[in-house]
Amino acid sequence: MAKKKSVVDFYKMKKEGDPVAWVTAYDFPTASFAEQAGMDMILVGDSLGMVVLGYEGTIPVTMQDCISHCQAVRRGAPNTWVIGDMPFGSYQVSDEDAVVNAVRFLKEGNVDCIKLEGGVRVKSRIRAITDAGIVVMGHIGLTPQSSGQFGGYKAQGRTIESARNLIKDALAVQEAGAYSILVEAVPPEVTAFLAKLLTIPVYSIGAGLCDGQLIISGDMLGKFQAFTPKFVKKYAKVAEVETNAFKEYIQDVKERKFPGEEHVYHVIDSMEDYEKLFNEFEK
Ligand code: KIV
Repeated sequence: MAKKKSVVDFYKMKKEGDPVAWVTAYDFPTASFAEQAGMDMILVGDSLGMVVLGYEGTIPVTMQDCISHCQAVRRGAPNTWVIGDMPFGSYQVSDEDAVVNAVRFLKEGNVDCIKLEGGVRVKSRIRAITDAGIVVMGHIGLTPQSSGQFGGYKAQGRTIESARNLIKDALAVQEAGAYSILVEAVPPEVTAFLAKLLTIPVYSIGAGLCDGQLIISGDMLGKFQAFTPKFVKKYAKVAEVETNAFKEYIQDVKERKFPGEEHVYHVIDSMEDYEKLFNEFEK
């Protein structure tokens, strides 16, 4: 089994040009499959609201939802770097709130690191959490929790003005003490510049090549069906496999083909004794 990676490994990987491969996971089986496959790290994203809980967005996701799913992921992937995603409302009010909730992620969720969205405007939050001794990943570009302010899930950094703000955000995240930053839905040219400019690892989701790639497991496995962002590559059709399996099962039940002989526990005592027993109750 591969050794669990740490921030030291992630810095080394950036230096050596070895890209980090990571996915989201929200449950025990997905986390254990990711670990068995050799994933470098796992994000328990607040995308769990859409991918697992069936909400239309991430806003309703609570701290308790995140903690429970982090615990399941940790049980499935004990030897993988796990990042807990701070949900909307858990760090927006004050630095103190942010630290209290980040501490919960570590103490109860058993994660290695937390991620929060925003650049310049969350600088004091990142500083406060890192000052508490907690490892932080930043997240800029398309930040789903504040997507209402962009008018929806819109790519960022596509104009000079927007790219300038992104660069300022990235520098603020690094200066505040984050060990890495995730850049979402940004032109690859801007991401490549950020990866060169910053000393911390710069990871992409829908933002081209850099120090590593994140993808939502529900998207890549073909489980999340509500919509598919442009930047998703599908590696499996799990929804199709599951639906077909359910259809086959229903047919087997209706046709009395399931359970078969091989799926039942036969009696140990003689059948005559069983007949006598049944008779006792029928009288
Ligand atoms: O919640 C999540 O999975 C995320 C990704 C969209 C980056 O934050």
